[in-house]
Amino acid sequence: MKIKPLVITLFLFSFLHINIDARILNDREWLTKTYLASLEGKILFVGVNYYNADYHTYVKTPETYETLDFIPERSKFGSPYKHHVGDFLTFDPGYKYDHICLFGVLGHFGEIAEGQSYNMDTENAMTQALEHATSLLKIGGTLQVGPNRISIPKFNTAYWQTRLKKYPLNKYSIISNEFGACNMLWWGKKIRD
Ligand SMILES: C[S@@+](CC[C@H](N)C(=O)[O-])C[C@H]1O[C@@H](n2cnc3c(N)ncnc32)[C@H](O)[C@@H]1O
Repeated sequence: MKIKPLVITLFLFSFLHINIDARILNDREWLTKTYLASLEGKILFVGVNYYNADYHTYVKTPETYETLDFIPERSKFGSPYKHHVGDFLTFDPGYKYDHICLFGVLGHFGEIAEGQSYNMDTENAMTQALEHATSLLKIGGTLQVGPNRISIPKFNTAYWQTRLKKYPLNKYSIISNEFGACNMLWWGKKIRD
């Protein structure tokens, strides 16, 4: 007699679960096939690893695709056209970009782990990074913010849902605001300085 309500509950739960999952995108598929594939002009992709080595092939203008990482050994994974070694927080190439990508560089601990380190791991440093990205972008240019929403419990999905609406991202009109399995997939167009 008690089996039926249990079966109904399980059925409803599994249905709900499928619907929640359906909203979660494959981070890298979205990044390469939707986001990068639509970019043209001066592009800055911040932070590289082995899986980024062919990312210049996805954008419409590979020759104007630039990368940046503060670990010199990672240069081999950067753009074959222009790679910079340096800290994004103080990076100043002397010109502005049409697109800047901050995917996978926010929402991690600062310690060196698996050969990589992060310095944009406090609220202040993350705000500084978003301000700096905004100052390096042309008006009409776009910013992708893809923080990890799993690594640091206090910087979880709920935190980012609120944070992504605040300064300086309130200077952007939203192009896309989705969830990846590990990262937020926020993308906006700068409408004012
Ligand atoms: C997870 S890896 C690759 C990130 C890459 N954007 C992606 O697709 O996931 C993070 C890289 O970002 C670099 N990085 C983190 N903070 C940085 C900063 N402030 N300036 C330059 N590189 C940074 C690290 O050195 C590391 O190589």
